[in-house]
Amino acid sequence: MGKEVVNKRLLALAEYILPGEIIADIGTDHAYLPVYLVQSGKITRALACDIHEKPLDVARKNVIDNKLEANIELRFGDGLKTLKPGEAEVAVAAGMGGGTIKKILEDSPRVLNTLKRLILQPMGDEADLRRWLLCNGWRLVDENLIFENGHIYTIIIAEQGSEQLYDDVVLEVGPRLIEKKHPLLPELLKKLIKKYKLAVRGLMKSSRPDARIKLERLRKHLSRLEEVAEKCR
Ligand SMILES: C[S@@+](CC[C@H](N)C(=O)[O-])C[C@H]1O[C@@H](n2cnc3c(N)ncnc32)[C@H](O)[C@@H]1O
Repeated sequence: MGKEVVNKRLLALAEYILPGEIIADIGTDHAYLPVYLVQSGKITRALACDIHEKPLDVARKNVIDNKLEANIELRFGDGLKTLKPGEAEVAVAAGMGGGTIKKILEDSPRVLNTLKRLILQPMGDEADLRRWLLCNGWRLVDENLIFENGHIYTIIIAEQGSEQLYDDVVLEVGPRLIEKKHPLLPELLKKLIKKYKLAVRGLMKSSRPDARIKLERLRKHLSRLEEVAEKCR
């Protein structure tokens, strides 16, 4: 499989997998990540899992076309429920909503507890996902941002352990990204600030009884975001 199929985002995820680790790619779709990891020689075994038959059919075709049936096992079903405890060392969940990823993690505590690392790339709801991780025995060991096709993708790496909980703004932006002043952070913050400014404008026109309280909360959030943006400049 050519490197062009494995885009920048998937290559960035692959970097967080150590040689020889057994991975479960949850929501594998085409199975590009496990195929790439095995073909590159980094790993020899992966479980490629998906809840829908169509993507799993595509994954099966890619596995067979690349003669990797002995290395990549396909699993059909919901999240980590397709795994037995201890079967995988690392779980990847990429390209799904943050809420879906959170649900996948919270639905399977017995499997989750046997994983040493989570490689997550949520499409939104990052704050809730980080909050869930920190409140459930995981620490955020690294975070990354990838710019591709006009979109900034967030990558969150978690390992078992404990870490303090942060305020809503830090949870939304990412504590490790702020610490390392990630070069794409100003762009991400610009987008978030624009989103909240629009929401403030919308609420100012609202006549709903709870609009004032919501507006106050949003303005505080916005001003904290602007503070973080100032520090990350
Ligand atoms: C947009 S694709 C992402 C594919 C790949 N992980 C990537 O990042 O390029 C999302 C995939 O997740 C699968 N999916 C959604 N919810 C799931 C769940 N609860 N368990 C397993 N797979 C799920 C979908 O069927 C779909 O194939």
